[in-house]
Amino acid sequence: MLGSQSADPARRKSLHGHWSSKMAFVLAVTGSAVGLGNIWRFPYVVGENGGGAFVLVYLACVLLIGMPVMMSEILIGRRGRRNPVASMALLGEEEGSTRHWKWIGVLGVVAGILILSYYSVVAGWTLAYVVKSVSGAFTAASTDMVTAQYDSFVGDWRLLALCHTLFMGLAVFVVGRGVERGLEQAVRFMVPALLLLLLVLLGYSVTSGSFGEGLTFMFSPVWEDLTWDGVLAAMGQAFFTLSIGMGAIMAYGAYLPEETSIPGASGTVVVADTMIAMLAGLVIFPLVFASGLEGILEAGPGLVFKILPWALGQMPGGAFFSTIFFILLSFAAWTSAIGLMEPAVAWVVEHFNKTRAQATAMIGGLIWLLGFASVFSYNLLADFKPFGRTIFDNLGRLTNDIMLPLGGLFIAVFAGWVMCRNSSADELGGAGLIYKLWRVLVRFVVPVGILIVFLKSSGLLPDLG
Ligand code: PHE
Repeated sequence: MLGSQSADPARRKSLHGHWSSKMAFVLAVTGSAVGLGNIWRFPYVVGENGGGAFVLVYLACVLLIGMPVMMSEILIGRRGRRNPVASMALLGEEEGSTRHWKWIGVLGVVAGILILSYYSVVAGWTLAYVVKSVSGAFTAASTDMVTAQYDSFVGDWRLLALCHTLFMGLAVFVVGRGVERGLEQAVRFMVPALLLLLLVLLGYSVTSGSFGEGLTFMFSPVWEDLTWDGVLAAMGQAFFTLSIGMGAIMAYGAYLPEETSIPGASGTVVVADTMIAMLAGLVIFPLVFASGLEGILEAGPGLVFKILPWALGQMPGGAFFSTIFFILLSFAAWTSAIGLMEPAVAWVVEHFNKTRAQATAMIGGLIWLLGFASVFSYNLLADFKPFGRTIFDNLGRLTNDIMLPLGGLFIAVFAGWVMCRNSSADELGGAGLIYKLWRVLVRFVVPVGILIVFLKSSGLLPDLG
């Protein structure tokens, strides 16, 4: 019998190889977590939702929901040792429930495909901004000039399509080469380099003259400004930034050696991801106030692409720093894109018996096509607004705020209620204090928390009194 089909979870092997070390796993998961979500999306959703109160809710979601869901995904992945669809089906049966748990895996595969379809478009922007930076387009540019550059750039669908195509090509290339060869090297230098560069930029924003204002905006909560819709957005951002709720971490967990500590690995990733997002905020918000463009806070996805080029353009050596910045951001997006594709690719390989290269080409092609809906959202279809938002915004909303938390809810219920104590304790290294805490969180706090936020934000649960 093949090792991969063993009935004994400890003897199951993944068909896609294993991480060469614990460090390799932590790096890969960190690479998937740290991405556009931290640097592009975090600042603009904080801006749209009024600052401090949103940030605190986000941090609470990361800690109380994100961390336990991440641990659950890794443990399910490692125990099943297959793609997320097959792992959920297998464990569902093994734990005396049903194979229908596979639908949670399917939900994740679909979410990953949809997310990457717009993620790749924004990642394409970062590629274009590398070129713009090199050419000195931002040197000493005024805020009006960088804003005009952004607007005319996203208005040109051919250019966006080209950048999106390029980025998808890069993603397909790495995923096609397989887990070990592609990923590890990229992440090993990208995350530390990004951290370092953000620290340099932090130095600049501290001296910008508006650091205090930025700090106040980011950390002093104005609770009256926070709506339930904002709470939903904070929860969605927590899921998105940690790459949880759609099986990416589950797929990576399938390649994790038996001895690695799951709580330890999860803790490292959560801390690194949160640090990078906070740093990005501490860089961006003071600069927003220094630029005098407070209105830009509510202006959405363009925030980072306007503020940073402007600020860097004022700085000595700015063209150099802005080139490095957008290169690193492209790398960060690249290592995240890999995580977004992995569940779908692993599933096609196992389920349809394709080679990895074929599966990657198929999934990549599909995502590439879907991406045009997001490309056109900024130009040809800018006025097409079902539910009052562009297709791009609707996709973000549907995936981050609905599909990921829904996936997370079921993953928590599965790990906490369906899996027996022995199985989960076995994976989490015994029934100590951390295990008990995790179990209370996944059984009660996570499901109830997600349900309340869903019901409140959709208006189904009215305020009492
Ligand atoms: N966490 C990534 C980011 O912050 C996005 C992502 C989501 C990647 C889900 C993989 C899976 O950019």
